[in-house]
Amino acid sequence: MSAAAQPERPARATRPARPAPVAPAMDLQALITDPETRIVVCCGAGGVGKTTTSAALALAAAEAGRTVVVLTIDPARRLAQSLGLVELDNEPRRVEVPGADGELHAMMLDMKRTFDDIVTAHSTPERGQAILENPFYQTLSSSFSGTQEYMAMEKLGQLRASDQWDLIIVDTPPSRSALDFLDAPNRMSRFLDGTMIRLLTAPSRSGFKIASAGFMFFSRIISKILGGQLLRDISAFVAALDTMFGGFRERATATYELLRRPGTWFVVVATPEPDALREASYFVDRLSAEGMPLAGLVVNRTHPPATTALSATRAEGAAEEVAEAGGPGAGLAAAALRVHAERMLLATREQHLADRFTSAHPEVAVRTVPAAAGDVHDLDGLRGMADALTGADDDTPTGTPRTRVLPARRA
Ligand SMILES: Nc1ncnc2c1ncn2[C@@H]1O[C@H](COP(=O)(O)OP(=O)(O)OP(=O)(O)O)[C@@H](O)[C@H]1O
Ligand SMILES: [Mg+2]
Repeated sequence: MSAAAQPERPARATRPARPAPVAPAMDLQALITDPETRIVVCCGAGGVGKTTTSAALALAAAEAGRTVVVLTIDPARRLAQSLGLVELDNEPRRVEVPGADGELHAMMLDMKRTFDDIVTAHSTPERGQAILENPFYQTLSSSFSGTQEYMAMEKLGQLRASDQWDLIIVDTPPSRSALDFLDAPNRMSRFLDGTMIRLLTAPSRSGFKIASAGFMFFSRIISKILGGQLLRDISAFVAALDTMFGGFRERATATYELLRRPGTWFVVVATPEPDALREASYFVDRLSAEGMPLAGLVVNRTHPPATTALSATRAEGAAEEVAEAGGPGAGLAAAALRVHAERMLLATREQHLADRFTSAHPEVAVRTVPAAAGDVHDLDGLRGMADALTGADDDTPTGTPRTRVLPARRA
């Protein structure tokens, strides 16, 4: 690694790198306390901290006096427990937050229940029952890829329509791609308009049209359904849903529009890693193409050093000198200096990745959130994260603004 890094040095000495553009600061405190803000959607790649960020922002908003509900999706067990979410019941539950001026409510999305509720609400009792009992429906409602994303949007629409909340914070499903959340309504309504189902079920001389594009699309679902019943189930499902197709499409469109309305903001979450930031980058482009408002990028789980006064190179050098000099405590001091040097290198790498993002998206506001010592799974942990998300931009122990992992180099 050092061999690969060395040839760069002379080049750097003769041609100093242009300082990366400085990202604008993101004021999440102002955003979540603004009465005009009604929906905040936290998106990002898998495992970057969407659920934790959603819960922490909701807590901060409740403490600032708002009546807020956070719609979480598959929260880690301990986090769910600390929010009082012991079982899936698909309805918001109040979370006791001692001393909060507002109210915090939390819920976990139960995608099958949400789907069932739509069916019941939009069909006659007999027809509804027929759909709910249909094995094809049962598989679709619990395992169609995109169902979770679609149902999260559906639930958001319901929460918004109830007008019970000042602010709704929406976590998004653990998809491989953050874009899945935005694509889901379209995909779902295309699926439900039945064209593909008809294509599959239409009598054909060769039986199933194995080669049709639709077949691949359904293969996963179909494989889960018992063979003999298959055609009958699908036909019954299509017949029962027929009257609802229009309804689904309209709802998908309406919910999608909700995301474009003033008062909705997207917070994109990433970790300081190439894949997560690349995903964030796609998502930012997509939001801008769709005219959806972006609050900014949260770079979560960063590793800022305890001090920025000592560079990695100087810390390494000092560690060697101290170790050579020997004497009481020398070993420990050298080890501490090396830990600092490593931390500086890590922070430099993280800052470099964040800079790359900012070079591509100079207008996107950024907030870095340092990695906590352990998992964030209780109200205290969430409060710590909330402080990092909403605290004043320059209020850090090292004075490094919260847009960054390391201070900006001067031009
Ligand atoms: N700033 C942080 N410091 C320490 N741990 C964190 C931080 N943010 C998140 N975590 C931990 O990282 C793990 C993943 O976080 P979280 O569940 O919020 O991610 P996610 O994006 O919702 O994941 P998924 O895509 O699976 O839904 C959790 O164990 C959480 O406690
Ligand atoms: Mg999650």
